[in-house]
Amino acid sequence: MPVLITSQTATPPSSISLQQLRQRAERLLSLCGREQSELSILLVDDPGMAQLNEQYRNKAGPTNVLAFAMQEGGGDYLPPELLGDVIISLDTAGREATTDRVTLHQRVTILLIHGLLHLLGFDHERSHGEARAMAEREKQLLNQLLLAERRGKMVTLAINVDHVATLRQARGIAEPDPVLAAGICELAGARGIVVHLREDRRHIQDRDVRLLRQTVKTKLNLEMGAAEEIIDIALEIKPDMITLVPEKRKELTTEGGLNVAGQKKRLQEVIGRMGKGGIPVSLFIDPDPRQINAAHEIGATFVEIHTGRYCDAATEQMRDQEFRLIATAAEEAYELGLRVNAGHGLNYLNTRRVAALGTIEELSIGHAVMARAILVGLDQAVREMLALLPAG
Ligand code: PXP
Repeated sequence: MPVLITSQTATPPSSISLQQLRQRAERLLSLCGREQSELSILLVDDPGMAQLNEQYRNKAGPTNVLAFAMQEGGGDYLPPELLGDVIISLDTAGREATTDRVTLHQRVTILLIHGLLHLLGFDHERSHGEARAMAEREKQLLNQLLLAERRGKMVTLAINVDHVATLRQARGIAEPDPVLAAGICELAGARGIVVHLREDRRHIQDRDVRLLRQTVKTKLNLEMGAAEEIIDIALEIKPDMITLVPEKRKELTTEGGLNVAGQKKRLQEVIGRMGKGGIPVSLFIDPDPRQINAAHEIGATFVEIHTGRYCDAATEQMRDQEFRLIATAAEEAYELGLRVNAGHGLNYLNTRRVAALGTIEELSIGHAVMARAILVGLDQAVREMLALLPAG
């Protein structure tokens, strides 16, 4: 095992994903041409770090990162594959992350790169020239790492066919049929079909979901509120995943993200029940770090980031501001090991920017595609949207 991670913090580090950290460490070793090397990472809190700092460096108080090479201090008889230990204080890293306005994961990654470079012989304390070279290499490795992680990530398109049912319900007859529309979307290249079975059944009906379960060949994502009646239907029909959304009787469409932080217990219970039925859960949330951390804590598999405020922004400046919130939230969720989807309000003008983020796996789009489909046909409307997504 080339990377060994040990956590000695008082409470387990819930805000970082150890799996993601291990993957990053392995990738860093490979970027440094040291795939065969063994690296140990120790995560500590400030009191633990202060103790080590005192013991090995005669310095009082904690620091952010320490690195001890195996070959140092008489260990030069050991095999060169044994690189040594990088010790990171999560408390200090957390404070630095806030100051630098980056995620904890990103700060820990930067500290890991710093420690790793020490183990590979870089030392910024020896001279200005060495300090510059080390800082350059740190920057280069971080860029290479993030690029390697995101390269080749394909963004898929899931089409929400609710509005086909809206048109049908307007006449109270059998057409147009969302089940047929879903098939056309799949043939055009959509990789998922989304329907929202609302408690008021204003568009999608139980019959639609049952038939779609049999006909959808890609992935059926059932959007729903956390109401008992709908939960029972989901557990019986077993969609490929569900997306939990807040649901209000009088809303025109889903209005905001779920307040996950405010109902952790209830949502955790629903996630648990779905988990027993083998159904992964996505939580539809605003781009808010509090909601992302709560979604991670209660064991959601996905989050779907609400893009509505970005799409509806009245000015370019407000749009940029909302976009930055989405980018940061997606990054945070991704770094916690959550799978990240996004949707609501996306159209042919504002989708490309969100799809290019590199952290988002799937976009859920309904209204814009259906509106265009009325004029150009559903097959073409789906293909035009697909053309805006980065290919893998
Ligand atoms: N995602 C969620 C959670 C939604 O509620 C909706 C709307 O039903 C969408 C995505 C799709 O939004 P739009 O129809 O604006 O593309």
